[in-house]
Amino acid sequence: MKRRALVAGNWKMNGSHDFNASLVREIVLEIKRFPDIDVLVCPPAPYLDAVGRQLAGSAIQLGAQNLCEQPKPGAFTGEIHGGMLRDVGCAYVIVGHSERRALYAETDARVAQKFAVALACGLTPILCVGETLDEREQHRTEAVIARQLAAVIEDSGIASFKQAVIAYEPVWAIGTGKTATPAQAQEVHAFIRGQLAAADARIANSTRILYGGSVKAENAQSLFNCPDVDGGLIGGASLKADEFVAICAAAQ
Ligand code: G3P
Repeated sequence: MKRRALVAGNWKMNGSHDFNASLVREIVLEIKRFPDIDVLVCPPAPYLDAVGRQLAGSAIQLGAQNLCEQPKPGAFTGEIHGGMLRDVGCAYVIVGHSERRALYAETDARVAQKFAVALACGLTPILCVGETLDEREQHRTEAVIARQLAAVIEDSGIASFKQAVIAYEPVWAIGTGKTATPAQAQEVHAFIRGQLAAADARIANSTRILYGGSVKAENAQSLFNCPDVDGGLIGGASLKADEFVAICAAAQ
């Protein structure tokens, strides 16, 4: 049974009011063509409120790219609480993106905390996992991903995945144009689903696992045809309306 596909655009640290308004306008015009999938955009935090207002009435959902792991608001200068993300209309939040793990010392434990706070705030976390090129070349892909998943399952429990999404993002494919082949993606997605199934088969079967890493209009269909690929977490291509719409069409 294939799960309902999700195509999520991770805009990363890109955009402006004018750029965002134009991009969203073009995507909203096309979204009615894709009633059988979920579509999400994740702008940088300063733009969440304005983009959320522009999305109102459309089927496109709003997500954030990160949140603070503190369970309650307070004296955490510069941080953003999950409740604030809900306030501006976010339904999802990306946690543990490889860029944050690498650049901002986000350990498995911190990612697990963020995952738990996202759920506590009523957000659906998109848990990012993936290996570096070195780890893949050392045949450590499964060990790395198993470790990343275990940290969250041990902290929040397997039942928490009823309200979560996983994104497999091979670090070596992010922003490089070197997309994983469908066979590579399917192999790791099946491994991830197997790790979940070891704890709870029903949750393993219902959890959406997205692929991220140089997804483009021309390769999306072959990736989304894989039985364990339930959509994509799209970076660069999400900033181009025609590419993002074509990727949505491939998931439909
Ligand atoms: O979160 C998605 C992102 O990491 C993938 O980036 O530019 O390779 O599609 P990109």
